[in-house]
Amino acid sequence: MRSRRIVVIGAGHVGLVTAAALAHIGHHVVGLDDDAAKVAALQAGVMPFYEEGLQALVDAGQAGGHLVFAGNPEASIAGAEVAFICVGTPGRPNGEPNLVAVEHAASAVARWASRDMVVVEKSTVPVQTAEWVRLVLSRSTRHRFEVASNPEFLREGAAVEDSLRPDRILVGADSAVAHGLLRELYAPIVDAGAQYFATDVATAELAKHACNAFLALKISFANGLARVCEASGADVVAIADIMGADPRIGRAFLNAGLGYGGFCFPKDLAAFRSQATRLGYDFSLLDEVVKLNDEALDAIVGKVRAALWNLEGKRVGVLGLAFKPGTDDIRDSPALRLAGHLMEAGAQVAGADPAAGSSAVAALPGLELADGPYAAATGAHCLVVATDWPEYGALDLARIREVMAIPIIIDARNLLDPEEVAAAGFAYYPTGRPPQKPAAA
Ligand code: UGA
Repeated sequence: MRSRRIVVIGAGHVGLVTAAALAHIGHHVVGLDDDAAKVAALQAGVMPFYEEGLQALVDAGQAGGHLVFAGNPEASIAGAEVAFICVGTPGRPNGEPNLVAVEHAASAVARWASRDMVVVEKSTVPVQTAEWVRLVLSRSTRHRFEVASNPEFLREGAAVEDSLRPDRILVGADSAVAHGLLRELYAPIVDAGAQYFATDVATAELAKHACNAFLALKISFANGLARVCEASGADVVAIADIMGADPRIGRAFLNAGLGYGGFCFPKDLAAFRSQATRLGYDFSLLDEVVKLNDEALDAIVGKVRAALWNLEGKRVGVLGLAFKPGTDDIRDSPALRLAGHLMEAGAQVAGADPAAGSSAVAALPGLELADGPYAAATGAHCLVVATDWPEYGALDLARIREVMAIPIIIDARNLLDPEEVAAAGFAYYPTGRPPQKPAAA
């Protein structure tokens, strides 16, 4: 493999992990970001967010001279053979993603390139965005640019692992030059076993949306099923296991609970829905996915109300504030939305989270930050498991029972063992499974 000179534009979750991973496999990478404070922190080895294994990967890249961070586009882009566009594409109120940062990145490449380049979209963008990127790049007549789409499938919390050992790499390009260069660029990862898909650009752009939408669909299906289970006395976890034993269905992403959140699924669903409409197809199934997701959260609020009657004057402990375990990210976190709903209804809410506590409190004024699950449970009339951090599945239930005002647990992630919880003296309300009365002492 030839070591390439790469500029990665945008040092957010995708960009930073991509830059560090490309440096790790032997390329020379500049991580470019227009946030001067973020660049200075990265140069000093301080990560802007927590991600398992990232610190070590970035440290090794910087120490080995394969990875540098910069804020100056001129110096960073000049000399690069490949540019990865990893800037943010936040949702607009109508669901369409805001692609201004993508346009700026393409303009910067057009302006500062010092040679022919391959420009790669890695940010999740609507299908046909490459045509706009190509148009912006064509305004520079000095060099030839090939545009490719190389969507990222990494999960927060497992991003480093997903980048270094992905199950697949997808490259969409319309020229043999771009395909050849990117196939070679990823050679060490493909040789280690990743499946490699080479497609046209539009297929790659759309495939990313299709994947995220389908995963969200599976979660919403499980949540709809949970409602039917609750009405009939069936067990959604057992049904998910039975469904999952069929390889055509698969067990993953069939966990009913508080619904999906995070920076990707809600935004990508809205973006996919609006681009389908723009292209003339009314993909209304996607609306149902979002509706079922909202209902999943409402169902848990309903359970707290059903357990406590009035919420004014009640204290609720919420375990988990991040949008999922293994991350400190609270963007579009269902757990935080739940805490907000309970507070609006008059409850006093004490939340705990192993990683996201301080950002959660900053985002939701009035939320009380508890120092761990036992503090969150202290004096609570009800405890809700809102994010499935593994440590919340191994609580000392006797200790929790001792400190609570009323021993009620609402398990919005089906993390606990129903019989154990009931045996420990709790009224237990899981999701899509039969509730348990406290076992007689
Ligand atoms: C998701 C995709 O899994 C990645 O493949 C993709 O690259 C990424 O979005 C992206 O587009 O950048 P991520 O947002 O990190 O990754 O989170 P997931 O692990 O997919 O979880 C999303 C949400 O679904 C979480 O709130 C999680 O709690 C929820 N979830 C997941 C369920 O409610 N039930 C499940 O069975 C699985």
